[in-house]
Amino acid sequence: MAMTDAETPEPTTVEPDTSSGALGLELAPRDAEPGEVTAEEICMVTDSRGAIAEQFRSLRNSITALNPDGAPRTVVLTSAVDGEGKSVATVNLAIALAEIPGNQILVVDANLHDPSIEYYLGERPYKGLADVLRGGCALDGAIRRTSIQGVSLMGPGTLPENPSKLLGSDRTKVVLNTLKQRFSYVLIDTPAAMFIGDASLLGAMVDGIVMVIKMGDTAKHLVEQTYNQLETLGGNVLGTCLTSGRTGEQKPGKKRRRK
Ligand SMILES: Nc1ncnc2c1ncn2[C@@H]1O[C@H](COP(=O)(O)OP(=O)(O)OP(=O)(O)O)[C@@H](O)[C@H]1O
Ligand SMILES: [Mg+2]
Repeated sequence: MAMTDAETPEPTTVEPDTSSGALGLELAPRDAEPGEVTAEEICMVTDSRGAIAEQFRSLRNSITALNPDGAPRTVVLTSAVDGEGKSVATVNLAIALAEIPGNQILVVDANLHDPSIEYYLGERPYKGLADVLRGGCALDGAIRRTSIQGVSLMGPGTLPENPSKLLGSDRTKVVLNTLKQRFSYVLIDTPAAMFIGDASLLGAMVDGIVMVIKMGDTAKHLVEQTYNQLETLGGNVLGTCLTSGRTGEQKPGKKRRRK
């Protein structure tokens, strides 16, 4: 299917707001108020009527068409190599899915090597996935609302020494299944799949995988190899998202969390 440093603050102590969210989650603790999306790549915000935004809506439609009963779904986004546009695509797709009335979307940053979802969503570093998997943080304390209606975020949290070991634990499966019961779609951003096993590992735990491919740049054999690897390890590749991300480049001024 062709579808188309600054200083990292210490994690804050989480005191969840006592008001319960729509999904029964206690979202948006007092010290995690939503930020603001300013990254120009997030075209669903910065150019929501443009051609690329329409391509993300088209990708959304393809994914929802595969799910006619509207059951909750967990979806991993990955690519063959670094910098193909996975994180940008994850955020744009989440916003496109949240345009469907009633949808509640959770974006999980599972790129525990080089996370960037907080940057793209204009959010501050906060408790997140790695803290939950270590058992040091309740699920609710690691999820916050974003400035986008219907889009919540679980950031990476405090980065581990060994991401694969943490992600490969049984707890990951339990956490993902719990999240699935609370959101319409859980979109999981991951590292490139070719040389790091995390995406394949997570891909085997979820309902589907979207492969992000930088058009005209990533070698076909690498894409095929990655596809085969994901499927062989138990993943279900739903389709591809073609991007024009700048492979291997980092946008000037892009702030990423220190490892
Ligand atoms: N739709 C887009 N429009 C403009 N620039 C984009 C777009 N998508 C991605 N880029 C650029 O491509 C680069 C990589 O994007 P992104 O961070 O999403 O890639 P990634 O695959 O998540 O990278 P990594 O493998 O390091 O996690 C960034 O500099 C980003 O600004
Ligand atoms: Mg990324």
